[in-house]
Amino acid sequence: MRILITGGCGFIGQHLAALLSADHDLVALDLLTDQVHLDPEVARQRFPGEVVVGDVADADIWAGLPTVDAVVHLAAETGTAQSMYEQDRYRRVNIEGTRLAGLAASRWGASLVSLSSRAVYGEGRYRTSFGEVTFGARDSADAVPEASREDDRLVPVSVYGQTKVDAELALAQVANGVPVTILRPQNVVGHGQALHNPYTGVLAAFLARLREGKPLQIYGDGHETRDFVHVSDVAAVIAWALGRTATGEPLVLNVGTGTRTTLVDIATHAIAAAPHGGSFEHVEVKRAGDIEHACADLSRLRSVGAPEPKTSSADAIADFITRSWAAPGADSSVWDDALDQLRRRGLTR
Ligand SMILES: NC(=O)c1ccc[n+]([C@@H]2O[C@H](COP(=O)([O-])OP(=O)(O)OC[C@H]3O[C@@H](n4cnc5c(N)ncnc54)[C@H](O)[C@@H]3O)[C@@H](O)[C@H]2O)c1
Repeated sequence: MRILITGGCGFIGQHLAALLSADHDLVALDLLTDQVHLDPEVARQRFPGEVVVGDVADADIWAGLPTVDAVVHLAAETGTAQSMYEQDRYRRVNIEGTRLAGLAASRWGASLVSLSSRAVYGEGRYRTSFGEVTFGARDSADAVPEASREDDRLVPVSVYGQTKVDAELALAQVANGVPVTILRPQNVVGHGQALHNPYTGVLAAFLARLREGKPLQIYGDGHETRDFVHVSDVAAVIAWALGRTATGEPLVLNVGTGTRTTLVDIATHAIAAAPHGGSFEHVEVKRAGDIEHACADLSRLRSVGAPEPKTSSADAIADFITRSWAAPGADSSVWDDALDQLRRRGLTR
């Protein structure tokens, strides 16, 4: 098959391309943005196929692309905190970019796999002490968080999450003509993440501080939970989805491990994997767009026969720390500066 991967030079894209390149002819559409790529030329050369440098939100770029059999749409602006103040850019790239990817897939008769995010659930699903299910903010202290299901109400709390909701909607019509799979990954982890990008996620920040011998900073008391899934498990689900042929409506699937890890445990796993160990401290700050709990319900993923995750969150975190230890990245001041930016804009509490 000839497969177009938008954002193919990024973190998930490079793992997916490595998985698919032996059996398929690959093309990437990627803007090679500075925020993601420390060295854009290295990223371009690493991709095992042609790289078209261009913007997914630019209709003219799509008109000039070769016809393909399948499209994997990964390109997006991905920083939750940054989305709160760069709203126009996030909307343009994430919504218009996805709409154009859907139009192109329709025109080519190509199947489409598009990456959404767990951010569409916002604070997600809770069960109250009366046994009722609520969505969004926890309405009482004794409400218990539950794993998010694909049919749950979508209540994003960040502009990034809202752009992913709108991007999913933009694909609804496309699915009448070509197979469309929408994946909602939880926090994806593995080597090759943009270590100089302060919006990459908490583990890149932890890595920077571990390398500098500084204590890891946990915002709040660290009881919050996340579902860290290894990038190879995400790539396996994307590859599986490329074989789908059903049209009608998009198949929406969660991708995660289905288990929760507290932020304190995430820090502990990272410290255990670091060559010289480390420690953590708590910092009183809450950023706009941050959520308390996140975890994927994998019932649907299992019921449709998609590959189940093979790597636990603990092993995924350890793999990230050990394999990224010597990789180039930024020092921890970059994360301090990003937090200052949010403070100045009134986006922290
Ligand atoms: N990494 C995660 O934890 C995670 C979790 C949930 C969902 N996702 C989604 O998965 C997808 C891939 O994420 P990733 O972690 O590989 O991100 P990434 O930032 O590493 O890669 C994104 C790639 O897209 C490119 N890009 C950015 N803007 C572009 C534009 N306007 N036109 C063309 N290319 C552009 C970048 O240069 C980069 O190569 C995204 O849609 C993201 O929202 C990621």
